[in-house]
Amino acid sequence: MFAAKKKPAKPATPTEMKAVAIDEFGGLEVLKSRVLPVPQPSHEEVLVRVAAAGINPVDWKTRSGAGMAERIKALPFVLGWDIAGTVEQQGRRVTMFEPGDRVMGMVNFPAAGGGYAEFVVAPDTHLVKVPDSLSLRDAAAVPLAALTAWQALFDTARIGAGDRVLIHAAAGGVGHFAVQLAKQKGAYVIGTASARNHEFARSLGCDEVYSYGGDEPWTRIDDVKTVIDTVGGETRAQSLKVLARGGLLVTLQTGDSKAGLNSPTRVKQILVKPNQHQLEQIAAMLCDGSLRVQAMAVNGLRNVTEAHSLSESRHVRGKIVVTVP
Ligand SMILES: NC(=O)c1ccc[n+]([C@@H]2O[C@H](COP(=O)([O-])OP(=O)(O)OC[C@H]3O[C@@H](n4cnc5c(N)ncnc54)[C@H](OP(=O)(O)O)[C@@H]3O)[C@@H](O)[C@H]2O)c1
Repeated sequence: MFAAKKKPAKPATPTEMKAVAIDEFGGLEVLKSRVLPVPQPSHEEVLVRVAAAGINPVDWKTRSGAGMAERIKALPFVLGWDIAGTVEQQGRRVTMFEPGDRVMGMVNFPAAGGGYAEFVVAPDTHLVKVPDSLSLRDAAAVPLAALTAWQALFDTARIGAGDRVLIHAAAGGVGHFAVQLAKQKGAYVIGTASARNHEFARSLGCDEVYSYGGDEPWTRIDDVKTVIDTVGGETRAQSLKVLARGGLLVTLQTGDSKAGLNSPTRVKQILVKPNQHQLEQIAAMLCDGSLRVQAMAVNGLRNVTEAHSLSESRHVRGKIVVTVP
C-alpha cells in the first residue's frame, strides 16, 4: 500500500506587498515604492498575483493630473489598469476562476487601477483566462489597447468588409491592434507611422502607410469611411477633410482640441470600457494566431519610472509592460 501523494500546500498569501503609489499628481518623481497591505477580495472579486502590468498613455496622463485623475477618489493610490498574473484567491460568488488560473484584464477602469503592485483585486467580470500559448508578460500588454481598438472599430464605427479605414499611429499600442482587427474584418487599411515603422505597419496588415507630420497623407488619402483618431488636434482637423460623405471619425482623445466635436454625426469620442466577452474573443484570436501583440518589457516595478518615460516619448512600437515585482 502506498500512501496517496499529498499536494504541496499553497504558500500562504502574504499580508504585505510591494507597490508603486502616488501621493500627489505630478512628474515621474511622484511614483514612489511603497509597502502596502495586500487587498482583500469581496464576494465578487478576485485577488490576482500580478506578473506584469501594462503601461498605457492614460497612466502617465493620470499621474500628471489629467487622464482619469478626476475620477480618482482619494490619494494616495496605485496606478495600473492592465495586468496579467495568477489567481491567488477568489470571492465566495466567483465561479469562473480558481487559484492558479492565469488571467489578464483591464481592471477597475476608470477608477484607481491598482496594477503596479504584487497583488491587485478586481471584479471577476474584468478578467479572462490567458491562453497557454501567451506569456503573462505579453498578456499584460493586451487588454486596454485591444479593447479600445475593438470598441472603436466594431461598436462605434461598425466597420465592414471593403471599408476604407484610416488608423493614426498604426504602430502604437491601440494602432497595432486596430490595424489587425480592421484587416480581419476585410477593410482596406491606411495607416500613419514614422518611416522606421512603415514595414512593421505593413506586416500588421496596412495596405498603405504614410509618414505623419507633413502634407503627404493629406494629399494622397481620400474617401475614408472611418478614421481612428489616436492623435487629436491638427491630425483630427485634417482627417475630417479626407472623410467620405457619411463617414465617421472616432476619436480617442478626450482632453485636447475640440476640432469636429460639434458634429456628432461625423465625430464620436469614446472612452474604453471593461468588457469580458470582447476580451475573451481577443484572447481566442491571440490563441489561434489571428492577432498578435508587440510588447517590450521593463524589468521590475522599481523601474516603472523608466516605463512611463518611454511611453511619454510617444514613439513606442506596440506596448510596454513592467514585470512584477
Ligand atoms: N479614449 C480612450 O478610451 C483611449 C483608449 C486608449 C488610448 N487612448 C489615447 O489614444 C492615444 C494613443 O494611445 P496608444 O496607447 O496607441 O499610444 P502609444 O502607443 O503611446 O502611441 C505611440 C505611437 O504614436 C505614434 N505617433 C506619435 N505621434 C504621432 C502623430 N502625430 N501622428 C501619427 N502617429 C503618431 C508613434 O509612431 P512612430 O513611433 O511611428 O512615430 C507611436 O507608434 C493616447 O493619447 C491615449 O491616451 C484613449
